[in-house]
Amino acid sequence: MAAVRTSNCRTELGDVTPHNLKQLRKLNTVVFPVTYNDKFYDDVLGLGDLAKLAYFNDIVVGAVCCRVDTSENKRRLYIMTLGCLRPYRRHGIGGLLLAHVVKMAKDDGNINSIYLHVQVNNEEALAFYQKHGFRIKERKERYYKRIEPADAFVLEKEVKDLLAITDN
Ligand code: ACO
Repeated sequence: MAAVRTSNCRTELGDVTPHNLKQLRKLNTVVFPVTYNDKFYDDVLGLGDLAKLAYFNDIVVGAVCCRVDTSENKRRLYIMTLGCLRPYRRHGIGGLLLAHVVKMAKDDGNINSIYLHVQVNNEEALAFYQKHGFRIKERKERYYKRIEPADAFVLEKEVKDLLAITDN
């Protein structure tokens, strides 16, 4: 596991396995307004290092799930979910998860960019991703079917700029 220790606190990333999949599901249910279906969680088990849980002193407090996307004639890493339980926010856990995604993109060697959708009113996530150098590419109207506001911003970061993310 990749681990970061600050004073007496230990933050580390771990694999998603059939044994802890329920914890990922619980976390996502609390953190995101969107409900992910059984297929999402079945597929997560096949993602390998593109899905990780974040542990804070051995408690699951965050997670990221990505997939390789080959639409628009590009090979991109798409962040499906990246989140952290509210009491543990602003302690660098989101940053640790994003740094892992960046490492995956760099190590792949053939990824053009990292991108994601975010609800237009999600100021926390917008501040987080913009702090890490992501830029708003477009606004997708009525992107979400069951939540309001339904519009999403597409945020993207080119791989050639990825070095700057880990330097932040
Ligand atoms: N307001 C302003 N800036 C912020 C905020 C905020 N609420 N949150 C993070 N940032 C910026 C800051 O610059 C922060 O650095 P600082 O604390 O030194 O000032 C920097 O981002 C890094 O913050 P972290 O502590 O690494 O991030 P955190 O662990 O709080 O996670 C996250 C950020 C993932 C966005 C969290 O707020 C969260 O889980 N939100 C709910 C789920 C969500 O909306 N996820 C993104 C949806 S899009 C998607 O998943 C693809």
